[in-house]
Amino acid sequence: MAEPEPQDASDSHEDLMAKVVNLAKRRGIVFQSAEIYGGFRSAYDYGPVGVLMLRAVKDAWWRSIVQMRHDVVGLDASILSPPAVWEASGHLENFTDPLVDCKSCKERFREDHLLEGDEPDLCPNCGERGTFTEARQFNLMFETQAGPVAGKGAEVYLRPETAQGMFVNFANVMNSTRKRPPFGIAQIGKSFRNEITPGNFVFRTREFEQMELEFFVPPDEADKWYEYWCGERLRWYADLGIPDDMLRARAHGADELSHYSSATSDVEFLFPWGWGELEGVANRGDYDLRQHAEHSGERLDFFDQANDTRYVPHVIEPAAGATRSMMAFLIAAYDEDEVRGEARTVLRLHHRLAAYRVAVLPLSKKDTLTPLAHEVFDSLAPHWQCDYDETQAIGRRYRRQDEIGTPYCVTVDFDSLDDGAVTVRERDTMDQDRVALDQLVAYLSERLA
Ligand code: GAP
Repeated sequence: MAEPEPQDASDSHEDLMAKVVNLAKRRGIVFQSAEIYGGFRSAYDYGPVGVLMLRAVKDAWWRSIVQMRHDVVGLDASILSPPAVWEASGHLENFTDPLVDCKSCKERFREDHLLEGDEPDLCPNCGERGTFTEARQFNLMFETQAGPVAGKGAEVYLRPETAQGMFVNFANVMNSTRKRPPFGIAQIGKSFRNEITPGNFVFRTREFEQMELEFFVPPDEADKWYEYWCGERLRWYADLGIPDDMLRARAHGADELSHYSSATSDVEFLFPWGWGELEGVANRGDYDLRQHAEHSGERLDFFDQANDTRYVPHVIEPAAGATRSMMAFLIAAYDEDEVRGEARTVLRLHHRLAAYRVAVLPLSKKDTLTPLAHEVFDSLAPHWQCDYDETQAIGRRYRRQDEIGTPYCVTVDFDSLDDGAVTVRERDTMDQDRVALDQLVAYLSERLA
């Protein structure tokens, strides 16, 4: 059930990865969790800029999946859930990775990752050969206890995917919304997996965010909807600026399919170390609803009055990672160019994904400019997330905004006090326009639409 390791690791692009990780820390995008205590490799903290970027990724997904559609509704299910849910879903039994220990250095590895390499008997940590224990199945779910009395009956699990929340609420959602198949339930939220080998920055962490859609369809329409969602989801990444040569769809071979899935296709991104999964689109058949109906004793089907038939809807599931997608958008957007002989780092992010759409920069910190600059900020803030920066020279402030991908900088200068206009600078071309203050919202709206 766990995903395979990305292919084609090469070190020729380590440089790009190091630059992105460095930028992420320098500009408040992503910090190592608990860094002052030496760092915690399996989780990350999203800083003042990162929290906005991650939110922008999730907003873009929600907009396309829920807001712009009449056939999908949202849900925010609990993270803690009782064992019965995971018994029925098959996670208690099957959500495992094969784990081996090196008897020499005691380091632990996923056996399937070692088998994919050229020297499966060589310990990547200490270099000893033939020191691995027999593989044993390791369940990736985090277990904890609910309530003050520990022990049997108190155990609960942190969800390893958001999907089950949609299945167990299928009847609740259908009854409360009067939605009928084909319709979908969408959810964004944290999931937790006790990954044996977290790594590659936020690519694989033990705490991460998912954006999942469960789309319920009449059984005879499942193939059609599967094709439809494969196309839609690939297009979403392309529309948000991932170049064609860094994006591909890869259909799973028969040996890769989960036992319940008749077809799965991954959306993959060309990470610096090779192709890696951003999202899986799966045709899950009626497996999930049948399992939960059987285990709960509740009816999870649909009576189609028009055709006088009852059926268990089939499910098409596009399941994406929010944190992993954000990393892909960052890597794809990272660029360096030269401005008047000086190196410039710029994130050429789609404006919808930028932390700030606009930055307001008074030319100097002089009291004479501050009131007007604040006024400009206040006039833009209801429309877009804006930054306000009055420290350092203007050139350095432009560079800072370029580095976090802010599409437009608005500079309030001394002429603004007389002519009631400001300078608007565009990130990619660095072209500047003088715009009257009473036209500013319209000017930016047109460009950020
Ligand atoms: N409900 C199906 C499901 O969860 P998945 O392929 O295991 O499918 C979906 O997960 C997406 O969640 C992945 O494509 C990936 O983007 C993200 N994801 C999964 N495990 C992750 C991890 N440990 N760290 C970061 N993102 C992860």
